[in-house]
Formats: sequence, structure tokens, C-alpha cells
Amino acid sequence: MTTTLPAPALQDPMTAPMLEVSGLNFYYGESHILRDVSMTIPKGQMVCLIGRNGVGKTTMLKNIMGVLRPRTGEIRFEGQVVNSFPPDRRARLGIGYVPQGREVIPRLTVRENLLIGQEALGSRGKAQKEVPEEIYELFPVLKDMLDRMGGDLSGGQQQQLAIARAIMGQPKLLVLDEPTEGIQPSIILDIEAAVKKIIRTTGISVLLVEQHLHFVRQADYYYAMQRGGIVANGPTSELTNDIIQEFLAV
Ligand SMILES: Nc1ncnc2c1ncn2[C@@H]1O[C@H](COP(=O)(O)OP(=O)(O)O)[C@@H](O)[C@H]1O
Ligand SMILES: [Mg+2]
Repeated sequence: MTTTLPAPALQDPMTAPMLEVSGLNFYYGESHILRDVSMTIPKGQMVCLIGRNGVGKTTMLKNIMGVLRPRTGEIRFEGQVVNSFPPDRRARLGIGYVPQGREVIPRLTVRENLLIGQEALGSRGKAQKEVPEEIYELFPVLKDMLDRMGGDLSGGQQQQLAIARAIMGQPKLLVLDEPTEGIQPSIILDIEAAVKKIIRTTGISVLLVEQHLHFVRQADYYYAMQRGGIVANGPTSELTNDIIQEFLAV
């Protein structure tokens, strides 16, 4: 006689991927924006989501963060279904988010912006009164600007501040929405190097939405989105010129 076991509600957090999205569908009103999207982010890996403007990349990240709720589908973080969790709870579980357009708080100083990032620690860590040295090792430019207003920084500096603020919350998964958009090439390389260093030194996972090909190539895996559906995926080493032409605005 054979017995069939029901699927476990909670996967083993030790072996589960960092993030697993399955069969996700999202609608804005009657518009079907995300179509059966499935995506896996292994622990300690960087995964890049590519696709042209308007295909649904930001909508996907907002569903992962809980800013938007899918109609169907499941979002698991370290094996736990988080669909019903609001954004602040997902942040405290360890999902750090740098939204498109970065959103630093203009009327707070750089130091205050950074310290606020610790709210995401929740019970996972103890908030510090000062910014740890590692943050300046990642983003040296911030050290000389601690007392400046966030809004007075250049676009590239604000982006570095936004990423640094997310790191202050010691995320397990860092979600970045077009961090190099509108930023000059030299700073793009600084941001790229900082993200790689974060992965190397902390072992966290990264989900990156990006148009800049050099940065895309730093990821371990890619997913390509078209009209709200995933149409190609694989290791970034297998990114062909055809795929790049089709899915990146190069
Ligand atoms: N608040 C909204 N209400 C209705 N439609 C929206 C809203 N925000 C975005 N959209 C639409 O959803 C689609 C996906 O948008 P988005 O996720 O921002 O794309 P991407 O980040 O890939 O450029 C687009 O067609 C866009 O016009
Ligand atoms: Mg977008």
C-alpha cells in the first residue's frame, strides 16, 4: 500500500532557496500585468531580471516586497510563504529594497538616512548609534557627507546612500530596481563593485533589475521578461547577443 504525503507547508529554511516565486499573476484593475511568473533566487547568488520598459519588472519587485499583492501565486522567503505579510514585516524578515528612483529622504541628513535603515533589523539585530565603518568601505563618498541633507546629494551619491541604507538593515536578500538608471558611467562601476563586495563579504542574495549590460553580466543567473511573462532564463554566461538585443535597451 502506498501513501501520498501532502506537500510541506514550511520548507526547511536551511535548504530552501532564499526566494522562490511560483505561478504569480498580478492585475492592475482588469489589466493582466504579470503572467504566471516563477523565479528562484538561490542563497548567496545574484539574479538579474531583464526586460524592456513597461514589461512588469518593477511590478514584480513590488509584489515580492508586498507593496502590491498578487491575485494568484506564491512567494516564499527562506521556505516560508510571505504572501500575507505587509512590506515592513518582509523587511524585518530580511528583504532589503531599493526602489526605482531610490527615494532617499531629502530633508534628513545622510547620517539620519543611514541610521533609519536599521528599522529593518527588527529582532534580528541591535541598532547602533553610529554608522559602522564597513558602510564607508563600501561607499567612501558617504563618509564626507554625513551631515549633508540627502536631497543635496547628486543622483549617483543618492543611489549609493539608498543601497547603503538598505545594507544597514542587514538584509539576507537585497532587491535593487535599476540602480544605475540615469547615473554617470564612473559611478555605475563604483555601485557594481560595491554590490559585488557586499555579496562576497556577507554572502547575501541579490535580485537586480538592470539595463546596463556590464552590470547584468555580473549576475549568476538571468530571467528575461516580456509582456509580464518570463520568456528566457539561465546562467548569465549563456546570455547571447540575440537575447541582449531583444531584452536590453542597448
Ligand atoms: N499604478 C499603475 N496603474 C496601472 N498600470 C500601471 C501602474 N503602474 C504601472 N502600470 C503598468 O504596468 C506595466 C508594467 O509596469 P512596470 O512594472 O513599471 O514596468 P517596468 O518596471 O518593466 O518598466 C506597464 O504597462 C505600466 O504602464
Ligand atoms: Mg521599472
